[in-house]
Amino acid sequence: MEKFYITTPIYYPSDKLHIGHSYCTVATDTMARYKRLRGYDVMFLTGTDEHGQKLERIAKGQGLTPKEYIDKVVVGIKELWKTLDISYDKFIRTTDDYHVKTVQRIFKRLYDQGDIYKSTYEGWYCTPCESFFTEHQLVDGKCPDCGREVEKVKEESYFFRLSKYQDRIIKYMEENPEFLQPNTRQNEMINNFLKPGLEDLAVSRTSFKWGIPVEFDPGHVVYVWVDALSNYISALGYDTEDDSLFQKYWPADVHVVGKEIVRFHSIIWPAMLMALDLPLPKQIFGHGWLVINGGKMSKSVGNVVDPNVLVEKYGVDAIRYFLLREIAFGQDGNFNNEALIQRINSDLANDLGNLVSRTVGMIQKYFNGTLPEAQEPTEFDADLVETAKNTVPKIENSMDKMMFSDALIELWNLIRRTNKYIDETQPWILIKEEAKHAMLANALYHVAESIRIISVLLQPFMPNTPTLIWKQLGIKEGTWESAKEWGKLPKTLSVQKGNVIFPRIDMKKELEELESAIKASQATSIANQGKKEEKEEKEEKEISIDDFFKVQLKVGEIIASEKVKKSDKLLRNEVKIGDEVRVIFSGISKWYSPEEMVGKKVVVAYNLKPRKMMGEMSYGMLLCADDGADKLSLLTLDKDIPSGADIS
Ligand code: MSP
Repeated sequence: MEKFYITTPIYYPSDKLHIGHSYCTVATDTMARYKRLRGYDVMFLTGTDEHGQKLERIAKGQGLTPKEYIDKVVVGIKELWKTLDISYDKFIRTTDDYHVKTVQRIFKRLYDQGDIYKSTYEGWYCTPCESFFTEHQLVDGKCPDCGREVEKVKEESYFFRLSKYQDRIIKYMEENPEFLQPNTRQNEMINNFLKPGLEDLAVSRTSFKWGIPVEFDPGHVVYVWVDALSNYISALGYDTEDDSLFQKYWPADVHVVGKEIVRFHSIIWPAMLMALDLPLPKQIFGHGWLVINGGKMSKSVGNVVDPNVLVEKYGVDAIRYFLLREIAFGQDGNFNNEALIQRINSDLANDLGNLVSRTVGMIQKYFNGTLPEAQEPTEFDADLVETAKNTVPKIENSMDKMMFSDALIELWNLIRRTNKYIDETQPWILIKEEAKHAMLANALYHVAESIRIISVLLQPFMPNTPTLIWKQLGIKEGTWESAKEWGKLPKTLSVQKGNVIFPRIDMKKELEELESAIKASQATSIANQGKKEEKEEKEEKEISIDDFFKVQLKVGEIIASEKVKKSDKLLRNEVKIGDEVRVIFSGISKWYSPEEMVGKKVVVAYNLKPRKMMGEMSYGMLLCADDGADKLSLLTLDKDIPSGADIS
């Protein structure tokens, strides 16, 4: 049996995962399901990337050890994958003992063979991206990848001889145009990174502890990307006593990754593998981002959409369908509530749901639920059969290129063709004449057979819908191959009407509800609170200490500030609070200019419900003293305390 090894990136358990993360995993899952249906022996790996300075800081901010904090988040990640029907075969955590040991062995081997050497690193580090940058790589002094603040780092470090592999990687890419997909990413890597010249990479850190210790020099922890990338082979038991999975599945058939981490996967990872004398993965597929109003969905911007909210409202299959259909894999795509509801109504309720329910309904009404054998062809049959037959290779062709959206377009062509066939054959007219009942049976048989083929082809994309259809049609699951043959339905078909598979949604009413559900989940995510709604408190003159501690106060550092055009009171501030940057509006432009604001360490009411101001959300409040007359003073700190620190 041919093998197929596919991976998602391993996720940072830094917060609840959002629909952007889910996008990558749903796509990978769809491919894994497709390959299984095609008879491959599939290994689908996902997991969590649990080391690094970022996680150490977040955990500290919550008064937890990194492991305590991460264990909590990982539970939520696994639950989310269950909710989204992600059929992974293995979940790796980089804190797993076997992974730690493999990384230590890899590091030692590269050191022993001279691919890693000790020196001093001096440059810039972006903690959210866990990336090193030289001065000239920064854009306006900020991280070129995420635009956030970088930190100056000077420390003793081990270096990996990345530069040594530069020419081999270029040659490999040029000789293997399939290696990095879509093609444009390959040009970007060659022209922007490889040709200008690679520098050796700092692969250890000494300024924090939360990482895999370098075994022979424990003051150093392994750079988190070297640790993380190794997961793809450590998960298979590489360099252990039982490396049978590694022997069977390596090299990976495809690493599915987001576009911002293509660089790590197509340059650092191949160089590491070359140094280890291992074959390279057959393909890296760099998909695009789910964006909201043109910007990447991200927690610090406060525009994340919680997949749980969507699944609860519309069901997992509808969400999977939307993600796969709406956005061409490889390109960025806008996430938009209206588009989601529109797709559910038109493609799922109208085209697919309606096709199934009216077919089953007619078989019940006209034949008491049992379609008889007697058949007489109609003039419309041949075209429907032809369309169904042609659909399968078209879908296969699109899936081979990971073009999920194209595959679904082909499938929906067949769905729409089948609906058209009903309109052409007009069963409601045929029923009126006894002489045409054999023709009617034939027409409904054709529709049912087409639905059977559609349901088989739907399986990788929407894991639950096919079963619902089979139940109504009274048939059992079908193999992918069975979709290639026309006429596999039982001779006599006994149907059973069930619930509507995709009910229509009232767009206007639903849009409002959906928007407020998403906002509510954003507010809880930002304030990092539990799900329970707090009861309204009665106004009291005195409050208990517990009440007081309900207000989370934190130190924030103003990193940008500007006057709001249409307001004479408001300043729009960007406030760094530990690891995140929030937008907070403040009605103080009468007392402070934007220039005066920048650089101030201030007191932020951190868990205030976000509210819309001048068309944009504001996440928190800056505390001020106000004499009730004409004076106002921003509360600042008189000692240098890092942003993100708790105030109590
Ligand atoms: N831990 C690293 C990956 C190490 S792999 C050896 C990492 N983690 S992440 O949690 O930040 O991101 C995981 C994946 O989610 C990335 O591929 C990233 O592109 C993807 N996405 C995060 N936000 C996204 C969108 N808004 N849209 C699409 N994908 C996005 O990077």
